[in-house]
Amino acid sequence: MNVLAINSSPKKDKSNTSLILNPFLDGMKEAGAKVELFYTGDLTIKPCTGEFHCWVKHPGECYQQDDMQQLYPKLREADILVFATPVYVDGITGPLKNFIDRMIPLVKPLFELREGHCRHPPREDGNKGKLVLVSNCGFWELDNFDPLVVHMKALCKNMSRTFAGALLRPHGPAFSYMLRSGPSADDVVKAAREAGSQLVRNGQISDETLLTVSRDLLPLDPYVEEINKRFKQALESTNK
Ligand SMILES: Cc1cc2nc3c(=O)[nH]c(=O)nc-3n(C[C@H](O)[C@H](O)[C@H](O)COP(=O)(O)O)c2cc1C
Repeated sequence: MNVLAINSSPKKDKSNTSLILNPFLDGMKEAGAKVELFYTGDLTIKPCTGEFHCWVKHPGECYQQDDMQQLYPKLREADILVFATPVYVDGITGPLKNFIDRMIPLVKPLFELREGHCRHPPREDGNKGKLVLVSNCGFWELDNFDPLVVHMKALCKNMSRTFAGALLRPHGPAFSYMLRSGPSADDVVKAAREAGSQLVRNGQISDETLLTVSRDLLPLDPYVEEINKRFKQALESTNK
């Protein structure tokens, strides 16, 4: 089973996103999957220029010669695609959106109706695998991920993939400092690893496991107080 994971946090392996993504990928590896991880921060992926070369002039091929070219074969072979992103202004990061837009060579231009809705047919060599979202955010509430989950579900319908769930970590900065200061959030890391193993072994992730990944780590008010204290200290230290 081939897994292609894209981590789009600019902080790469030092990111809060990695704190969930990496154990998830470890769980998949332990269950026997071949996992490849790329950081958009290490890649040059230019924005789509919108000219439909990949649909009309050279069907199935993007004319832009950048790092996306090495990823197309991997995308076509990916049984599981993992998009990992921090929440940036209620959405995914810009580099991940560029990556997603550059996926249109994998589908054909003609419209077809599926369940009464316009879609693009996949190319013959296009893989119809699964897609998982991994995300973390700074705000406390779980509903900060709603726009991203809606986006990923729509993308799956458009690109003929199956949405296999989302590992969502609200109040991500608290997760980071709790892991550094003790074992109190270890169950969340364990659940992320278990999610990877379940997906490879059973083809799905249990709701219970996903709930543990997203569980409240501390109440809202102390979290807001702690974050504000840290930002105030940072502002004072730079005399702003
Ligand atoms: C440009 C920018 C926009 C952000 N927008 C949001 C937002 O809309 N909602 C939110 O909850 N957090 C937001 N955050 C906070 C990040 O999601 C949070 O700090 C996260 O833990 C960063 O993850 P990373 O370490 O994986 O990059 C934003 C951060 C940045 C830098």
